[in-house]
Amino acid sequence: MYLLIPAAGSGKRMGADRNKLLLQIRSKPLIAWTLLAAEAASSISWIGIVSQPPDWDDFKSIIADLRLKKTIELISGGSTRQESVYNGLQALPSHAKRVLIHDGARCLATPNLLNACSEAIIDCFGLIAAVPVKDTIKVVKDNGVIKNTPDRQQLWAAQTPQGFDVKLLKQCHDEGIRQGWEVTDDAALFEKCGIEVRIVPGEETNLKITTPQDLAMAEFILSSRE
Ligand code: CTP
Ligand code: MG
Repeated sequence: MYLLIPAAGSGKRMGADRNKLLLQIRSKPLIAWTLLAAEAASSISWIGIVSQPPDWDDFKSIIADLRLKKTIELISGGSTRQESVYNGLQALPSHAKRVLIHDGARCLATPNLLNACSEAIIDCFGLIAAVPVKDTIKVVKDNGVIKNTPDRQQLWAAQTPQGFDVKLLKQCHDEGIRQGWEVTDDAALFEKCGIEVRIVPGEETNLKITTPQDLAMAEFILSSRE
């Protein structure tokens, strides 16, 4: 399976002086944990890291330190996650039929979850890992007043990995560019094009590391795995 790792953000909400993926968790850069999970997932054979060229020296030395055996490519990122994935798709080997996309910032996803998604995408066109939401979710208007409360039974929190048929995902990205759609995950492009996306059970611990609090949570979760 081909794996694209969007890693080209700047980590604004983390408020650090560099890409949050280069911050340390338990004495390793955040992205190293993501790469170790990908290396350990037997289904993955090719890894494309979509990242900003100014970060490449850091990424190269992280990759070298981890002594990864799988093929790793560095691909130039864009100014949004959507653009970064688009660039990643263009850089896939031409024979790639299916792809998993997994955020660099989700460094707690297990090899098992990556393998489960690789297996499930073989007989569908699109899928995402997700978990049922535990909170009651409110839709709130700009003036700070609640508009409504969607039925929690139907609400799931989207995670990555997300898996797709490469040809269809490229078509959906192209349509997104034509229509000016701005989305925060790839499944949303499939949905807008009317293509079915399945749910694969995600992991409660598969956090997207976004704020300093998440870094502390990641430290705790990784130490509890030892
Ligand atoms: N990402 C990317 N290219 C971008 C923006 C984001 O590849 N132009 C990646 C991030 O590196 C991250 C993933 O998409 O692995 C999810 O994005 P997010 O958690 O929002 O990371 P950042 O955009 O870096 O953080 P922030 O939104 O706080 O600036
Ligand atoms: Mg972002």
